[in-house]
Amino acid sequence: MTKTLSKMAVEVLTTADGRAKTALSHQHAAAWFASREAGTPIPLGNSAPPLRPSRPEKPEQLDPRNVPRRRPGSEQGRLAMLHAVGHIELNAVDLHWDIIARFTDVDMPLGFYDDWVKSADEESKHFNLICDSLEAKDSFYGAMPAHAGMWRAAEDTADDLMGRLAVVPMVLEARGLDVTPGMIKIFQQAKDQQTLDALEIIYAEEVGHVAYGSKWFNFLCGRHALDPKQTFHDLVQKYFHGALKPPFNEEKRADAGLPPDFYWPLSDQEPPAYAR
Ligand SMILES: [Fe+2]
Ligand SMILES: [Fe+2]
Repeated sequence: MTKTLSKMAVEVLTTADGRAKTALSHQHAAAWFASREAGTPIPLGNSAPPLRPSRPEKPEQLDPRNVPRRRPGSEQGRLAMLHAVGHIELNAVDLHWDIIARFTDVDMPLGFYDDWVKSADEESKHFNLICDSLEAKDSFYGAMPAHAGMWRAAEDTADDLMGRLAVVPMVLEARGLDVTPGMIKIFQQAKDQQTLDALEIIYAEEVGHVAYGSKWFNFLCGRHALDPKQTFHDLVQKYFHGALKPPFNEEKRADAGLPPDFYWPLSDQEPPAYAR
């Protein structure tokens, strides 16, 4: 009997070690795409994901206010930044497998699963690239404390697929598009080619994850005859705590199907005339 896709997702979610989690994630993604190619897709099944994914004992997870701040220009500052990116990538691996197993009661086309399996596979690569870069600097993922509370968005939207799409890919991952160019500049100045190569891959592939979010969000708005912009505003206000922070990467957000009048009105600044 073949394992179901939701069972495969639960296996990834309940694996604690980062390298082991991402190895399993790659393996299951390859199995899914092989089954799609063969025209015999692995059945979805209905294995229930854990409320929270398993994570390694280290890093210690602290309230963001208690995570020590380091100067971004210093070597320690760059290491801390890389470590924080690694933490985000590992969280993203779990988020993408979670959306696959969490909403099996909502009837979605197979392309929905293709998109999130591909995203989970890419996040697994991102995590490993960042780990490699940390290890090349005699550090490792787990060497520094990390932000607690990253899973909150997943818990808050555990019963609401449209809320999940609005908050995770369309707000949190879109934020990644805003901040990555600044990080790339920092590592250019430091002449750290290994990290630059990793960040360029991450930057290019994250556009796709945001695009999958807006694609399936719009799909569901169509199914339920909802106005996408108004629904996005309502759901972000319901589930996301705080305002969105400009400056926005309007060009990459547009590539990902996010128009300015979706996100600007949710910021704490006066939107430009074109974004109201
Ligand atoms: Fe990523
Ligand atoms: Fe992503």
